[in-house]
Amino acid sequence: MLIEIYLSDLKKQREAKQLNDPISNSDSQVAVNLASRTYAIEINPGLLNQLSNALAGFVSDDHVILVTDNNVAELYLETVVSQISEIAQRVDVIRVSPGEESKSISVCDELWQRMVDFKTDRQSVVVALGGGVVGDLAGFLAASFARGIRFIQIPTTLLAQVDSSVGGKVGVNLPGAKNMVGAFWQPELVLIDPLVLETLDEANFRAGLAEVIKYGLIMDVGFFESLEASVDLIGKRDPVALTQSIARCCKCKAAIVEEDERETSGRRAILNYGHTYGHAIEAVFGFGRFLHGEAISIGMTCAARLARELGMVQDFFVARQTELFQRMQLPVDCPAERHDELIASMKHDKKVARGELKLILPVRIGEVVVVAAPEDQLILDSLKN
Ligand SMILES: NC(=O)c1ccc[n+]([C@@H]2O[C@H](COP(=O)([O-])OP(=O)(O)OC[C@H]3O[C@@H](n4cnc5c(N)ncnc54)[C@H](O)[C@@H]3O)[C@@H](O)[C@H]2O)c1
Ligand SMILES: [Zn+2]
Repeated sequence: MLIEIYLSDLKKQREAKQLNDPISNSDSQVAVNLASRTYAIEINPGLLNQLSNALAGFVSDDHVILVTDNNVAELYLETVVSQISEIAQRVDVIRVSPGEESKSISVCDELWQRMVDFKTDRQSVVVALGGGVVGDLAGFLAASFARGIRFIQIPTTLLAQVDSSVGGKVGVNLPGAKNMVGAFWQPELVLIDPLVLETLDEANFRAGLAEVIKYGLIMDVGFFESLEASVDLIGKRDPVALTQSIARCCKCKAAIVEEDERETSGRRAILNYGHTYGHAIEAVFGFGRFLHGEAISIGMTCAARLARELGMVQDFFVARQTELFQRMQLPVDCPAERHDELIASMKHDKKVARGELKLILPVRIGEVVVVAAPEDQLILDSLKN
């Protein structure tokens, strides 16, 4: 009963908000202030058509190595190369196959060699144009070649725009060990054009929304409420709603990265809300069955249920979180089978410190805490729908 009353209240609030206040944060620039330097994330619809301006001061008569994948190349390479060519001395293009397989040492090996052939030196700059795969791979090439060269990100998936392009983690996979080899290598600049999301397929777009909602849940209740009020606009990929949401996410991630640039203080751990469950779901059911965002949407739902069992949140928290995922057409139900394997996989997560499994659990919308995992039975129960 309480939940029903609460939800109907929420509906009224949502309707009122939709009229008066879709997302209110309108900044289009986010600064990331690190100990050693500050860099900007610029978020602007149409930015891809203004690259020569946006890159002025970063690329001037320089050698650019533009890394992209074949899908993104078909859509945007011509525009991007023609504009960078206006200001660069020379643009060499590296195209990789789309997909996680390109984030490998064997692809790196080939690309390091191509960078030598391109006469890349420490004055060259690597520009990543693509999703998280291209960003992580290109960033690692930049971090490793000649002990590190300059790097600029132009992320083109929602996940890359709100998560992987911010924070400086770059790297590749080893067989059976995702993101196992890499570096912290911060970009000099991140340029985000929300209009490129128009061409992104629905599944990848929705999966990116799981990370967007995550920021609201872990640290920004006002943003969570704005998302509740803007589901329709965001679902339609309205450029204004997307720009404001992406900026808010980048602000959230920048704030955490500023506090814990190299993942030493533990602060960055809150970004992993739902991820211990989610990584296990990806590993056990195969990376083809769920996109990462879908797996963490299920993972955050399980984490919320566990928190409820532990008395950390009430029923209405779980209902409210679940409702937003469902309205954004994200899955919340864990498959009914292989739960023992999921638990085993969670215990093997690389975030397990000295054998002790820690979980990020919510205490209210906008706040999560790190806790030692309770006994297996409670975790098993949280997997059940
Ligand atoms: N570095 C970090 O902090 C961090 C954080 C989260 C995830 N990641 C990594 O990010 C990767 C996943 O990134 P992703 O979800 O962006 O996947 P992705 O890079 O594979 O892109 C998904 C698909 O969308 C296509 N695509 C990209 N932009 C497009 C556009 N605008 N229009 C049409 N198609 C487009 C790509 O070609 C690809 O087929 C994983 O490898 C993950 O480990 C890194
Ligand atoms: Zn994630």
